[in-house]
Amino acid sequence: MHGLTPERQSLLEQARWAARNAYAPSSGFKVGAVIVSSGGRMFTGTNVENVSSGLSICAERVALFKAVSEGEREFSELAVVAENGAGEQNAPPCGACRQALNEFAPELKISYRESGGFVTRKLSELFPDPFTGD
Ligand code: THU
Repeated sequence: MHGLTPERQSLLEQARWAARNAYAPSSGFKVGAVIVSSGGRMFTGTNVENVSSGLSICAERVALFKAVSEGEREFSELAVVAENGAGEQNAPPCGACRQALNEFAPELKISYRESGGFVTRKLSELFPDPFTGD
C-alpha cells in the first residue's frame, strides 16, 4: 500500500471488510468497494452474481447506486479491492463502471491495486473520452 495516504488505506480496509459479503459463486472473485460522497458519507458495495451471468453486477456500481438512491449526487473518493481465494488481486474498475461513475463524478479519485502496487487515479485519467450524450 505504499504511497497511499492513511485515509485512503483506511478506505481500502473498509472495502476489504465489505468484500466479505460479496456474492460470487460463479467467478470466485470477491470484490468490495466503498464510495465517499462530497459530504463524507460512505457507501459500500460488493459484486452480486447470478446464475444468469449477464445479470451480475460489479461492486463499484452497487456502491454508487446505493449512494445515489440515498440522495447523494457528488463523490470524492472510491476504493476497490478484489480477492479470489489465492489472495488479493488487481482491481481497476471495469469500463462499464467507469461510465456509470462518470455520470456523477468525472474527477473521482479511485484507489485500487494494479500490478505495481496500490495507486490512486482520477477517473478522468482512467476514462478520458466518456459518452456524454452531447
Ligand atoms: N467485478 C467487479 O465487481 N468490479 C470490477 O470492476 C470488475 C469485475 C466483478 C464482476 C464479477 O462478479 C467478478 O468480478 C468477475 O468478473
